Amino acid sequence: MSHPAERRLSTSVLIIGSGGSGLRAAIELADRGVDVTVLGKRPRGDAHTSLAAGGINAALGTMDPQDSWQQHAADTLRESYLLADPRTVEIVTRGAAQGIADLEQLGMPFARESDGRISQRFFGAHSYRRTAFSGDYTGLSIQRTLVDAAEQRGVRILDDVYVTRLLTSDGAVFGAYGFVQQDGTRVLIHADAVILAAGGHNRIWRRTSSRRNENTGDAFRLAVLAGGRIRDAELVQFHPSGIIEPETDAGTLVSEAARGEGGVLRNARGERFMERYDPVRMELSTRDRVALAAYTEIAEGRGTERGGVWLDVSHLPREVIMERLPRVYQTLLELQMRDITREPIEIAPTAHYSMGGVWVRPEDHGTGVDGLYAIGEAASGLHGANRLGGNSLIELLVYGRIVAASAAEYSAALTAQPRSRAAEDEARAEVDGLLAADGPVNVRVLQRALRELMTRYAGVVRSEEGLLAGLAELDRIEGQLDDIGVHPDIAAYQDLAHAFDLLSSILAARATLQSALERRETRGCHNRSDYPEQDPALRVNLVWSADGGVVREEIPPIPEEIAALMSEVSVDGKLVE
Ligand code: FUM
Repeated sequence: MSHPAERRLSTSVLIIGSGGSGLRAAIELADRGVDVTVLGKRPRGDAHTSLAAGGINAALGTMDPQDSWQQHAADTLRESYLLADPRTVEIVTRGAAQGIADLEQLGMPFARESDGRISQRFFGAHSYRRTAFSGDYTGLSIQRTLVDAAEQRGVRILDDVYVTRLLTSDGAVFGAYGFVQQDGTRVLIHADAVILAAGGHNRIWRRTSSRRNENTGDAFRLAVLAGGRIRDAELVQFHPSGIIEPETDAGTLVSEAARGEGGVLRNARGERFMERYDPVRMELSTRDRVALAAYTEIAEGRGTERGGVWLDVSHLPREVIMERLPRVYQTLLELQMRDITREPIEIAPTAHYSMGGVWVRPEDHGTGVDGLYAIGEAASGLHGANRLGGNSLIELLVYGRIVAASAAEYSAALTAQPRSRAAEDEARAEVDGLLAADGPVNVRVLQRALRELMTRYAGVVRSEEGLLAGLAELDRIEGQLDDIGVHPDIAAYQDLAHAFDLLSSILAARATLQSALERRETRGCHNRSDYPEQDPALRVNLVWSADGGVVREEIPPIPEEIAALMSEVSVDGKLVE
């Protein structure tokens, strides 16, 4: 049965998400002569990658020639608290220089030294200066470069399309279903292979560096309904520096570049509090430690009246701020009329990055569902319990190539593709059902309640009691789904998009709470007040499935060459009582 307002397309490889990872994969596919279509729910120039600020890592050795990919791998593994997959880490760090070279060739305007070398700055917990950048607009520059390159290659990119379901038959993906947010037109796409590049789930916390409608856990839900699994959902990076005001923009990022360039942190008493937590690395300690330090200062009453601490760059020369931190400067001026060349910035931890994500194989990022791949923040494996700033941008460049090659090979090898009319009908019926919902409960109210519960029970510090209370509250929210009302209007189908965001967020929240409950230890970003020590038996990944079960997955050994470069992971500065 055909639907009157349904657009049908077919493509060899479908990419869901028009951020950096999706576009990098699309460029590679186009260069291989493979027909590719990219769907994005935001305008392509404004995908989430455009918010990434401070930089992208590769051991180029432009500033510190003694750096090496092996040391980059060692730093990444050490700071993951040994939860990163050594194979994924090796692939990314080994391939990083090539990733940067590819980007340079595509026209990326990296900051350079006067002799033409790519500049590299310090980022927290790296042994050397290996973060290349473009002011503090690195993500935006990358996104623009990739959009231009994809358009030059004639890649079909459809903005404003919300994907509601992946279509599967006999354990293999054969396309996706969704709708155009502006007018509700349905979209049915048949594809040989699908690459999921739809981001993470950090928007399910109240204070977050993601904007409304992004990182709401879409990739989690799409993958799980298609038969995929979620790894390390509990491992969410809280970035130390999100702005506090105005409330509507609370959580907006102040780049780590501010600390990298010499910014200092002080509590309300004027104390440079990192001396208590990591006296050696101070503000350039790891994100988990700096975030926990800021959290502790605030929780113990040494924070500002509004519940923050101060990040001060006003001692830096004005030209350094204007050249290296232009976005921080502009953001604070725009949102708070604050001139950071003169005044400190009031900040608090903000949910920033999903270090876990869809379970993928290290070698090709296949998800275990035939023909389905995941990439970027949607995927898992590189970051473990603490992500080094700048590693996610390089990951998308390296795996963009690899995943594209795998999807291209998969597509080329298909001799026939089973499709399922029932799967298509189910996807249609789901949208029809939500459009018919006319109950009294507003979807946004439930979204807000969910964000409140995640903030209260699954923030920087967690406990069994809190996580169980969070799950009970989540059940209550989910129980209200039968009473929601969805009312798209002439302006757009945003209400429908919100309803799907809510479904995704509920699934992502459940995976997070249940996995956090199972991780009965304190490790990296995951602080359990009831289990303050690291448990060697929990040096495993936690894999969550749709039935709510969490299973442990062993992590392969670290190659000797890399292990030799790793110094001890100190837990000094972990202050959970
Ligand atoms: O602080 C930042 O500039 C963030 C960078 C990152 O998350 O990689």
